Amino acid sequence: MSRIAYVMGRYVVHRDGGVSIEDRGFQFADGVYEVIALTNGRFLDEAAHLERLGRSLAELRIVPPMSDRALMQVMRETMRRNGLKNGSIYIQITRGSAPREHGFPASLPPTVVMTAKRGKPVDPRLLQDGAKVILIPDIRWGRCDIKTVGLLPNTLGKQTAREAGAFEAWQVDRDGFVTEGTSTNAWMVNAAGEIITHPANHRILGGVTRGSILALLRREGLPISERPFTVDDLRGAGEAFLTSTISMVIPVVTVDGRAIGDGKPGPMTRRLQELYNAHAKETTA
Ligand code: PDD
Repeated sequence: MSRIAYVMGRYVVHRDGGVSIEDRGFQFADGVYEVIALTNGRFLDEAAHLERLGRSLAELRIVPPMSDRALMQVMRETMRRNGLKNGSIYIQITRGSAPREHGFPASLPPTVVMTAKRGKPVDPRLLQDGAKVILIPDIRWGRCDIKTVGLLPNTLGKQTAREAGAFEAWQVDRDGFVTEGTSTNAWMVNAAGEIITHPANHRILGGVTRGSILALLRREGLPISERPFTVDDLRGAGEAFLTSTISMVIPVVTVDGRAIGDGKPGPMTRRLQELYNAHAKETTA
């Protein structure tokens, strides 16, 4: 079955989908995106993703091209036309197309594209056995909280990880703090059992999965701290894990080749996997 994409008001097979060569997303990475998981025909944490999309658009001063209601309809129609009940949707909105100039016209019709992906987003072996992570310098700009399509440091970092035989690269800022992965949020559990993750400021993307995990931790009364942790803190961690829409909760078992804890997924990570799976199940039932 051909993959169908939504492109500027039309549903087209991928090979027929295209946008202008002067699209500002293409020329300046002047656009934002979301990735939302579809489980049992329902979008997971949809409201939080749409809220973040609205925020990203507002930060770039792009006027939303349609209401959330209309967006939700297009998302559903895109999945339906692809015959999907499980998978994920990619939504990209750019400022639109205009003759190339850094400054932008006051009003431009934004470009809206959606594509659908089939199947389980994450390799079950990673969920079970855990992942290897490497550390790289965080070379990104000062507004990592905006989910822009300007992802070059992230793609280069992920490729470095891949070539090192690792699943993810965690980025380390100039002060020696671990900010986040190239497409995931970073977490550690210290010797006292405290669960630590970088605060959701301009240095990281405030992950929707991160938000759900924090809410679950609070509900369970588990000790959490949103504060930056250093590479040294991480080396002394009992457990570490990463989260995203696509990865859910993946244990991290080595960092730069050194074992975290005993080099196996830890009990808190396992508990969080269960809590998150239950959350996903309950909210998409
Ligand atoms: N990435 N940090 C970064 C830099 C990310 O790109 C992502 C998501 C996350 C996790 O956010 P969430 O829990 O909302 O998925 C953290 C998506 C999945 C991607 O680029 O494909």
